[in-house]
Amino acid sequence: MWALKASLLVAASKAARVSVFTHDQSDDQSVQDFAAVSMLEMVSAAGGLMNVTIGAQINKLCETEIWSDELTPMFTERRVVGSGATACVWLGKDETGTVVAIKVGKNSGAKAASAALASWKRECRDMQLLRFDACGAGEEVLKLHEMFIPTCTGVGPTQSGGAYYIMHAAGTIGFKEAPERDWDVAERKMMFASLVGALYSMHIVGQTHNDLHGQNIVVNDQNHMALIDFGELKPPAKSWSLGYKRDGNGVWRWAEVLAQCSQASLWATSFDQSYLYPQRMTDTKTCLQSKWGVDAEFTSKMSVVMNNGIDQVVGEHGIVELFKTPFIQDNLPALKTLFPAEYADGCLTWSATELKDASLKKQFEDHVKCDQVPTFTWTKTSTKRGKTRTREVQQCMGLSGACYTLEPSDGRTNVWQCDGMSIARGSTCGEFPACLMSTHPAYKFAKDL
Ligand SMILES: Nc1ncnc2c1ncn2[C@@H]1O[C@H](COP(=O)(O)OP(=O)(O)O)[C@@H](O)[C@H]1O
Ligand SMILES: [Mg+2]
Repeated sequence: MWALKASLLVAASKAARVSVFTHDQSDDQSVQDFAAVSMLEMVSAAGGLMNVTIGAQINKLCETEIWSDELTPMFTERRVVGSGATACVWLGKDETGTVVAIKVGKNSGAKAASAALASWKRECRDMQLLRFDACGAGEEVLKLHEMFIPTCTGVGPTQSGGAYYIMHAAGTIGFKEAPERDWDVAERKMMFASLVGALYSMHIVGQTHNDLHGQNIVVNDQNHMALIDFGELKPPAKSWSLGYKRDGNGVWRWAEVLAQCSQASLWATSFDQSYLYPQRMTDTKTCLQSKWGVDAEFTSKMSVVMNNGIDQVVGEHGIVELFKTPFIQDNLPALKTLFPAEYADGCLTWSATELKDASLKKQFEDHVKCDQVPTFTWTKTSTKRGKTRTREVQQCMGLSGACYTLEPSDGRTNVWQCDGMSIARGSTCGEFPACLMSTHPAYKFAKDL
């Protein structure tokens, strides 16, 4: 979501009073970010945004403008823990007494309300699909997710026209605060091993995080690290190849910070990428050897992670190999089920078909059946040798799904986007609804219109 991403950039530029675009402008991510900020400026100029706050400063408008009163009885001891451009996050106890995080997006008008709900549903669904992926990869990977990757447990609209979702409460201290914490060396090593474990558990199931800044990696009062904010999940081949958002660069960055190396204070909050060069890499390795006593095997695997970052190698981060080193294994905390998922309860015993169906259902249950959409067919009129004939043409012949419109089509205007965005995981149809053709494997899970 551009608005959420832009909030961080604006927050960062306000905090540091430096250019956000310190890295190569040809990076498609920078271009996107640039577009996002321009758009944000427009919305902001039109008075459509809350004031954006940074870090520990919590937005005062969260309670007055974002919270929706009907949610109040669902939680006790509610308090704001974070905010972005168009959303605030609270911690609160649910009816079972469990502390949960509630992310609430603001209402921005009638049409925006359905778009807000759709995007909140997507964020929630992406977290849940990730858990099914973990389950499919077996017990070890599932355990890592249950320890480091919180998941979404509910989602819905608010009465004020916004949307909310509920997820596990993950932690209140961001990694950006690491330089100021009095964590000892063992704790710091453990948090780093946890970060590598969390990323391993995502990469091994074909997902990358792509947004590892110091407010999306959090630590709770027991020093358990967890990842949050899965708004930029992408398969490795589509993951960022350069910039601070590249997962491998995040590993380098947080190693430097957690090990209290010479650039730690700078890198904890800066988006600067000038560390991506060979001399810096040598310095980080020397530092990790002296501060953490890392061995040759770790150093060699860490070199791959750093080199791939410098060389902008697409898709290959080297984190899976890093995870297997004794240094990471020895420093991983004992795995506990901190983030259980009721919707995936017992999934290790499901058959491959059951797991696939659960995943298909989760991904596509909000789609409708294309052949029930009134504009599924359109009337084509053609004139040949003075004779005019009309016939009914089916949308998306042979393809499996679409983003559709209810406006009638003449074959040129208001055409469906066939095999549309929503069909690929992690994408949406934007303002448009999505449907599945009868050839799609999840057709049976699609709703009747
Ligand atoms: N599950 C959670 N547990 C604890 N704090 C959270 C959780 N989710 C979000 N937060 C807090 O809210 C902030 C914004 O949430 P996030 O999901 O990162 O939204 P955005 O997409 O706007 O960055 C986070 O940086 C963090 O401080
Ligand atoms: Mg975030």
